[in-house]
Amino acid sequence: MSDQKIFIFDTTLRDGEQVPGCKLNTKEKIELALRLEELGVDIIEAGFPISSPGDFQSVEEISKIIKNATVCGLSRAVQKDIETAAAALKLAKRPRIHTGIGTSDSHIKSKFNSTREEILVRAAQAVKWAKNFVDDVEFYAEDAGRTENEYLARVVETVIAAGATVVNIPDTTGYCLPDQYGEKIAYLMNNVPNIDKAILSVHCHNDLGLATANSIAGVRAGARQIECTINGLGERAGNTSLEEVVMVIRQHKSLGFYTGVNTKELNPMSQLVSDTMRMPVQPNKAIVGANAFSHSSGIHQDGFLKDASTYEIINPEEVGAAGSRIVLTARSGRSALAFRFHKLGYSFTRNDVDTLYERFLQVADTRKEVMDEDLHGLAKAYQASAVTA
Ligand code: KIV
Ligand code: ZN
Repeated sequence: MSDQKIFIFDTTLRDGEQVPGCKLNTKEKIELALRLEELGVDIIEAGFPISSPGDFQSVEEISKIIKNATVCGLSRAVQKDIETAAAALKLAKRPRIHTGIGTSDSHIKSKFNSTREEILVRAAQAVKWAKNFVDDVEFYAEDAGRTENEYLARVVETVIAAGATVVNIPDTTGYCLPDQYGEKIAYLMNNVPNIDKAILSVHCHNDLGLATANSIAGVRAGARQIECTINGLGERAGNTSLEEVVMVIRQHKSLGFYTGVNTKELNPMSQLVSDTMRMPVQPNKAIVGANAFSHSSGIHQDGFLKDASTYEIINPEEVGAAGSRIVLTARSGRSALAFRFHKLGYSFTRNDVDTLYERFLQVADTRKEVMDEDLHGLAKAYQASAVTA
């Protein structure tokens, strides 16, 4: 069987932008949307048009300029929200309205003071209303992660019958374990009679650090769209990180999936989002963190310098990273020291490096990291002592 496409739905401009301090203005959103399109995402969730006049304008402007990707606007299952989203998306080449409602008992009782039956009616009405404006309607069953599977299957069947083209199964609170979430998607694939009329989407939050694992479990069980953000930004602990799911799919060809993302743009995109939102990326972040391709312990450095694949499963060039780094600390070994001296233009023999290594360790024990200036100092002192000896 040929590989199956996984649609990448980027929600950096909507769920990602909900992070305190990360709010974007229209100009910033347009710039990021254009870059997301270049990156090769399939759907750009541009905002929540009813939330503010500024966000309405952002979705409207993005709709005008995006040529290939689908542009999506969020709404609640409320007529006015849907109409506002439709108005903001009016000029989009491929518009999608994303509407939905909470389906877990907790949401039904605490948020809506409602009943399961009433929620089914409201869900169907919202999709039908959105269908008056666009063909492509995505429905989200908020808190699907904690919604009982039998009832969730009824919700999914109802909204597909009402015309939903995509049904989003969010693990809104990041509660599910990967096997539970995968089983939930499998349950829907097997128990919703009209499931062939729509695709299922995964939207996982990272409260337990499981968003990427859950998203992958979801597509393995039959979902065909992943909702994610650059750098994993999003409410609380964030959303599924785009760069992680894309690279899991690329590195594990045996999964039988592919995406349209140009992986060489992942690091530049991460940097741009981090700069624009003024939100630093944690150094140990997979794929795009500053240390993702750094090697600092002697055992790792020695192996890496003999053959990069001993300690790297991704070529940094493939993800647009600056390259691998051999970092010198008090845990580094002789091969790394020799390598760094060589890079600085020194040609020391093995015996030279043995002597220099002892001096290097004295410096390294007083520093977090030994830098090029320190190495020049060590080299110059060593050369001077060799001349006077
Ligand atoms: O996490 C969530 O449930 C959401 C929905 C609005 C799609 O972001
Ligand atoms: Zn979310």
